[in-house]
Amino acid sequence: MTSGEQLTPRAALLTAASGEPATPGPRTQPALLELWARMMSTGPVPVDDSYLPQSPGAEWALRVVQAGFLDVAPDRDTVRRAVPSAGAIHPYEIYLIAHDSAELAAFAVDTVRRICSRTTGHPSALRRTLDLGLPDPGALGAHIVVVTRPWLSMRKYGPRGYVYTQIDAAHLATNLLGIALSLGAQASVRLRIPRRALNAGLGHGARHREVHSVLTIAPPTGIYTDAPWSFSRMPIGHLPRGVDDEFEEMCWASLPDGLPESSGVQGALVSRPLVGAEASEQVTDKSRLIGEWSTLSLARRSSRSFARGAVPFEQLAEAVSTVHVALPSDLPGGAGPSRHDVSMTVLPFSVEGAERHVHGVISDRNPVSDRGMVLRACMNQHYLENAAAFVVFHAARRDVVDPMRPYLLREALFRAGAAGHLIYLGATRCGLGVTALGGFDQARWRSILRLSPDREVLYVMALGLDGAQGEKYDRLQSAYAHGQ
Ligand SMILES: Cc1cc2nc3c(=O)[nH]c(=O)nc-3n(C[C@H](O)[C@H](O)[C@H](O)COP(=O)(O)O)c2cc1C
Repeated sequence: MTSGEQLTPRAALLTAASGEPATPGPRTQPALLELWARMMSTGPVPVDDSYLPQSPGAEWALRVVQAGFLDVAPDRDTVRRAVPSAGAIHPYEIYLIAHDSAELAAFAVDTVRRICSRTTGHPSALRRTLDLGLPDPGALGAHIVVVTRPWLSMRKYGPRGYVYTQIDAAHLATNLLGIALSLGAQASVRLRIPRRALNAGLGHGARHREVHSVLTIAPPTGIYTDAPWSFSRMPIGHLPRGVDDEFEEMCWASLPDGLPESSGVQGALVSRPLVGAEASEQVTDKSRLIGEWSTLSLARRSSRSFARGAVPFEQLAEAVSTVHVALPSDLPGGAGPSRHDVSMTVLPFSVEGAERHVHGVISDRNPVSDRGMVLRACMNQHYLENAAAFVVFHAARRDVVDPMRPYLLREALFRAGAAGHLIYLGATRCGLGVTALGGFDQARWRSILRLSPDREVLYVMALGLDGAQGEKYDRLQSAYAHGQ
């Protein structure tokens, strides 16, 4: 190397590490110093700029966030959340839009430090979301905005991490909705929303983020949070830049620009089930589930293994029929025989009395019942071997991937994730073990369930007797359920 040649920081480090006789050119030292400086950079420390807001809406929304996401006792060695997430990554952030004094304001919710920071940089952009049809939350209400950060999941799972991000966000939005309803609020979730305007209205924090859904709550009067939250006034431009911005940018650039934007709020709010079961008996008392939602969401967890043994048919039917609970959203009823875009098929293995109910809860497609095949379809996740039944959500390809209706992709995954969440709650109530499965092989599931080739398998759940013991390999650093 000649002394004038450019030395990259990495080359400088390799030279330094190789043990070769040092032949440092004049650029070695600056390159190493630059590398060291970058490695040690943490970004600016957030400013402590606390204040007391005049925002009953934000305080009430924090109560919902607290109960719907955070209020779970820590496990022995890990923090638990009220909602499941692929790899326990939780690749999203929560924002609020509410009045603070007389002004419409946006807040970023730091769920770890429990700080709610004002991020209103563009009040005019926030106002514009109202012009585009988002209702004014009113003095006492709020919008809780779920914002995804796909990179957090994609850096582990590659492009499929985007699908997991959408399903994870669906679990969160559904749980917040159920919690708000169970606390007596009026609440509904919207997916057909003006995302660009919302991104701008949320300010700087929306970089590399995608607005997923808006949950609108109008609380019953007189109940506010008693949760230990603090508020901070952090004007736009002062939010610290993430240290991994440049890597996140690379991941962000791999996502198509064309993912669904709607120009304004569309679709009336209607309370209806979000998926259709191919065949189903309705055994769940819907209002009871809403009443028990808070308790069930705190008790919910993903099974680490399943114990050998059969599950009575009635127990399984009660657990899975929670998908019929109607939830208020802006999603249309859909088309097809069941008037829904996403369907559910139940595949029993060890279910007492299942044979009598082929036309009830359980699929009558005469599916292949070979456990080995099912395990392979679940990427050989061996701790599923004693699962008593599998629930599979699937949809016609045209209802998931349609260039004329690109927003359907997000909506189909939302329906599957929301239904999966209801099954988590149903299984918890019935004392059954349950786990979500995002690591599966579509083609194998199609052939097991004898689905036509134009159906997309979106999400799978396993249910059975909870084995209580075991590792959740899905949480390992490696993408275990992807065969790594
Ligand atoms: C979209 C999604 C995909 C998941 N995929 C798997 C999977 O393939 N295998 C598995 O064992 N668990 C899977 N899980 C469950 C997570 O591992 C579990 O939610 C996470 O470890 C947190 O644990 P908890 O649900 O008990 O809070 C998945 C969860 C979600 C939401």
